[in-house]
Amino acid sequence: MCTCSPADRPADPTRRHFLAAATLAAVGGLLASACQTGFGPSGGFSGTFTFKVTDYPALATVGGIALIDGASIPLAAVRSGTSSFIVLSRVCPHQGFTIGVAGSGFQCPGHGAQFDNQGTNVGGFPAGSMQSFSNTYDAGTGVVTVTG
Ligand code: FES
Repeated sequence: MCTCSPADRPADPTRRHFLAAATLAAVGGLLASACQTGFGPSGGFSGTFTFKVTDYPALATVGGIALIDGASIPLAAVRSGTSSFIVLSRVCPHQGFTIGVAGSGFQCPGHGAQFDNQGTNVGGFPAGSMQSFSNTYDAGTGVVTVTG
């Protein structure tokens, strides 16, 4: 579709206007794709998932980070207090690479996004923050229940 004003538009479309309209449509399509990519992949899951803290020795101390097995998506847990945890999706919000542990935080192997231990994007590629999940910890059983 031609975006020139009606005053500029000839009575009969010319080849130049046809090509301009086709180019605008193609650029518009590319921009729409780029915007969709910017939202990133879904790093979530539905329902609940549980894990036992004693299965992950790194979680015995506050600040410890563990890669959690068995969920439908790759997860990481950070022990944020004696009875609290941060549970994060390891699906990078940029293009879905699986984020790994790096020092006291995380890093994406895809394009180098760096995250602190709360999943906040703090350096490297500006990917956005890692998705976090609400969770509860039962100190009696040592089980963390994560809600997707
Ligand atoms: S996929 Fe993670 S920074 Fe691009």
